[in-house]
Amino acid sequence: TGYITIDPGYKNTGATKSAITFLDGEEGVLNYRGYSIEDLAEKSSFLEVAYLLIYGELPTEKQFAEFEHEIRTHTLVNEDMRKIFEGFPVNAHPMGVLSSLVSAMSAFYPDANAQNSEAETQLHIIRLLAKLPTIATWSYKKSQGHPVNYPQNELDYCSNFLNMMFSLPVAKYNVDPVVSAALNKLLILHADHEQNCSTSTVRLVGSSHANIFSSISSGISALWGPLHGGANQEVIEMLEAIKADGGDTQKYINMAKDKSSGFRLFGFGHRVYKNFDPRARIIKKAADDVLNKLGINDPVLEIAQKLEKAALEDDYFVQRKLYPNVDFYSGIIYRALGIPTNMFTVMFAIGRLPGWIAQWKEMRVNKEPIGRPRQIYTGAPKRDFVPMSERK
Ligand code: CMC
Repeated sequence: TGYITIDPGYKNTGATKSAITFLDGEEGVLNYRGYSIEDLAEKSSFLEVAYLLIYGELPTEKQFAEFEHEIRTHTLVNEDMRKIFEGFPVNAHPMGVLSSLVSAMSAFYPDANAQNSEAETQLHIIRLLAKLPTIATWSYKKSQGHPVNYPQNELDYCSNFLNMMFSLPVAKYNVDPVVSAALNKLLILHADHEQNCSTSTVRLVGSSHANIFSSISSGISALWGPLHGGANQEVIEMLEAIKADGGDTQKYINMAKDKSSGFRLFGFGHRVYKNFDPRARIIKKAADDVLNKLGINDPVLEIAQKLEKAALEDDYFVQRKLYPNVDFYSGIIYRALGIPTNMFTVMFAIGRLPGWIAQWKEMRVNKEPIGRPRQIYTGAPKRDFVPMSERK
């Protein structure tokens, strides 16, 4: 069977050629379709970036108006999906609910299993982009014992999501432009990150020609893990634990250095970035700005800053090139926006959706073969079957 090279975790194995995202881990560079993340976060909107990732170019005014209009007209979710949702327990994790309901979309749109035309695929893409925020807000509403909100299609993408989250039938919610702008920036920073764990999952599942909803649902499940997108929830829980423990950051740094503790400093380290994570830089500054603008004094921010400083001065972290990653400060902003901790990874999923879609589409358009890694067998040699009555 030829030569098999083992590379656990694919640390040095390229799985595909891709024209979507450029990442230079040594220099801390991240570009979507050639545009720097710094520029996009400052000057663009999340839907514009979604268009760029999926279709390859920034949209003209006309293209953008059409794209946004299409999304607006698909924000409503089939009422039968609500019935599925109602069966979940109130304490269900919102990520479990999200991946299940996106998977359920494949049952509601079974034509996605067929060999789709470009127009049909386009409709599935629009449905995903339009419905994910609506579905995401249901979990929060249920946790509060409140009725779900229907989308308000005169609102832009981020404001619509915030309105579905926070508006109540008894008290209209006015979307604060500071909040909506901060959300827009966070979603842009999460929109793609080349062949990370969840994206590779989407491509691998999709490589069997599984439908787009099932492929994206698998990506959501992969994102949930604490070593990947789930880290943003872990970070805030860790910072809160440090606060409750009297703010002793050194104790947690020592614990992270001690391999036998099994504890890692969440929000630190990255497979590819070895000098800094450019997203973390932008988010750190945004966290400061947003808290200032909203007049919030969050003691957890102080703990985060203290922890970051101590880690960056510690030999263990310096030698291993462990720097704060995108998840380190994002939770502090989400908290300031009123998003509950157990929904942080859902926010990551909403942001990453255009990237998953773009990567799924690229894989199919390029007619990539089914993903099928090999192995080196290390189990028992061939042996004879022993009937159960003779087994010791
Ligand atoms: N705390 C303490 N030690 C760490 C940490 C950490 N957060 N991260 C890595 N190390 C150590 C690790 O023990 C190893 O030490 P040694 O060489 O002595 O065995 C060395 O640094 C290299 O780590 P690795 O686990 O081989 O690196 P990796 O590329 O396989 O893992 C990572 C990358 C992000 C999974 C890891 O750094 C980690 O677990 N970080 C915490 C979780 C986290 O913040 N994840 C979010 C990543 S960014 C956004 C995203 O992907 O969603």
